[in-house]
Amino acid sequence: MAGAMLEVRGADVFYGASQILFGVDLAVEKGQTMALLGRNGAGKSTTFKAIAGLAPPRRGRVILSGETVSGRPPYRIARAGIGYVPEDRQVFPEHTVEDNLLVGAKRGPRGEAHWTLARVYEVLPLLAGLRTRMAGRLSGGEQQMLTIARTLMGNPDILLLDEPSEGLAPLVVQAIGALIRTLRGMGVTILLAEQNMHFCLAIATHATVVDKGEVVYRGTIPELRANAAVTQRYLAV
Ligand SMILES: Nc1ncnc2c1ncn2[C@@H]1O[C@H](COP(=O)(O)OP(=O)(O)OP(=O)(O)O)[C@@H](O)[C@H]1O
Ligand SMILES: [Mg+2]
Repeated sequence: MAGAMLEVRGADVFYGASQILFGVDLAVEKGQTMALLGRNGAGKSTTFKAIAGLAPPRRGRVILSGETVSGRPPYRIARAGIGYVPEDRQVFPEHTVEDNLLVGAKRGPRGEAHWTLARVYEVLPLLAGLRTRMAGRLSGGEQQMLTIARTLMGNPDILLLDEPSEGLAPLVVQAIGALIRTLRGMGVTILLAEQNMHFCLAIATHATVVDKGEVVYRGTIPELRANAAVTQRYLAV
């Protein structure tokens, strides 16, 4: 796992007295699109919260490009290069799409300014057409695109997407999938939490499967696809 862009090592996470994650190990290499798969309640969002500093591990560590970031407050973890898009895709409803994007604008951890308004509009022409629209008036899918784009505006080293397809209509899910594939093609490093394995098959390069707070499988997407025992046991298919 040496040289991984993001590593979670032996993370134990608790909510109050209840332990939710048990020694979770996870590694994402630069340029990978890693799917974090697991059923409802498996611990995907908790893993993301552990990485983002919202549920810091009681034991274990989160390491970004060789540097331990666990223990820092969430804003410092974000500034170190982790772009986290939570499940609830919050936008500022009373502000325009463009203002929502500008709120997220900052240089990357080493001064990167790759993602600008112009760049975002080039990759997401849909948002360019909606730039003056109030974010609260966007559809669910458009809001999901906006939250992803706003996070990209922060020039992160890695993008964490927590169930971006959840609750969206099939055509919109396809559009989100196409966006993630585009980002992958651009070399963006992505960690994608999903219950829906089929959504990930055409999108991700690698998979880590969690169940009851433990990692139960790691492999490439073709390996996972060929492994009926794992997909039937741990994933809703
Ligand atoms: N704030 C909390 N306090 C106590 N328990 C929690 C809390 N949030 C989640 N849990 C529990 O932790 C476990 C893991 O939840 P988590 O949200 O990480 O799962 P998930 O894999 O993201 O599921 P989903 O696919 O439904 O989003 C579940 O048993 C859940 O009930
Ligand atoms: Mg979740």
